[in-house]
Amino acid sequence: MATLGMAVLGCGRIGRLHARNLARHPRVRLAQVFDVAGEAAQQVAAELGVRSARSVDEIWDERNVRAVVIATPTDTHVPLIVAAVKAGKAVFCEKPIDMSLERARACWGEIAADAPVVMIGFNRRFDPSYRALRERLKLGEIGRLELAVITSRDPAPPPAGYLQSSGGLFRDMTIHDFDMARYLAGDIARVHAFGANLVDAEIGRLGDIDTCAISLRARSGALVQINNSRRCVYGYDQRLEAFGSGGMLQAGNRHETSVASWNAERTTGRDVVLHSFIERYAQAYEAEMDAFVAALAEGRPVSPDFADGVEALRLAVAAGESLRTGRVVELGP
Ligand SMILES: NC(=O)c1ccc[n+]([C@@H]2O[C@H](COP(=O)([O-])OP(=O)(O)OC[C@H]3O[C@@H](n4cnc5c(N)ncnc54)[C@H](O)[C@@H]3O)[C@@H](O)[C@H]2O)c1
Repeated sequence: MATLGMAVLGCGRIGRLHARNLARHPRVRLAQVFDVAGEAAQQVAAELGVRSARSVDEIWDERNVRAVVIATPTDTHVPLIVAAVKAGKAVFCEKPIDMSLERARACWGEIAADAPVVMIGFNRRFDPSYRALRERLKLGEIGRLELAVITSRDPAPPPAGYLQSSGGLFRDMTIHDFDMARYLAGDIARVHAFGANLVDAEIGRLGDIDTCAISLRARSGALVQINNSRRCVYGYDQRLEAFGSGGMLQAGNRHETSVASWNAERTTGRDVVLHSFIERYAQAYEAEMDAFVAALAEGRPVSPDFADGVEALRLAVAAGESLRTGRVVELGP
């Protein structure tokens, strides 16, 4: 079986993880890594025994590199997607496509004629439990979906430097949940958002919120509730619930161990839940890259694709509008 030549752009937190997963992928030859901070790329290159490109043009010119992973800061995604597609590469790009819906749509306008292959890094679709929940939902195990509840709370706020350029809670963090809402309930028709600054006053000074409760109405009629916090003392709280005419499906947290403690006063004390997204979604990050590689090797469409990235961003923008105006935002087709 021929291997797929690939390169990773951006060797920070998530780029390093993707590079490590690709380096041990049986259907991939990780040819190059690149980072504008040369040292970051050199470290990853040395660890994995691959080349560190001196410039991004080296990657565009390398004919053996058929696909790239874009794991650079969000404001660089659009120019890199355009350049990669124009160089004939398939693209896996981290979420979100961009902070601006207009720029994301303009990006598609620039590349659409090139029959681009662009997958977006909504890794939670590939979490084994979330995926199984969705498959069982689609198989009708709980009848018709009526309500979905998506809980997503970070252990602690990111540093102020990150928050400043993050694009705000909805585009940076809730974007995963907006995608999950569509994954479970299909296209969304109406959005209402409450947001508050309850965790860290510094976040409020930056003009952002750290806590939110969002209500969505899907075109199917199903309702979705999303709740987020930038702080959660017991770990990285990631749960899904789908409630339907015939029952309920739940996917819960992953704990450090599965030990449960029972004594005269309590019966359910367990370890805290895993703290980092890297550990919690380790299998999902591997599975999403596997799906990207398999789709390319077998000539199938990638999923989630660019349009899914745009739709999640559209929901983030609508939630921002609802937060500002206090109104329900109606989404056109
Ligand atoms: N799917 C997920 O779970 C997940 C998790 C974390 C981050 N992300 C997304 O991944 C992206 C990167 O986030 P991160 O936390 O890894 O950031 P990071 O700051 O840790 O790493 C980004 C790296 O990109 C490099 N870089 C900057 N501009 C570049 C360019 N033009 N070309 C090449 N390299 C460049 C930086 O030097 C840095 O090493 C963001 O869009 C973020 O939203 C997704």
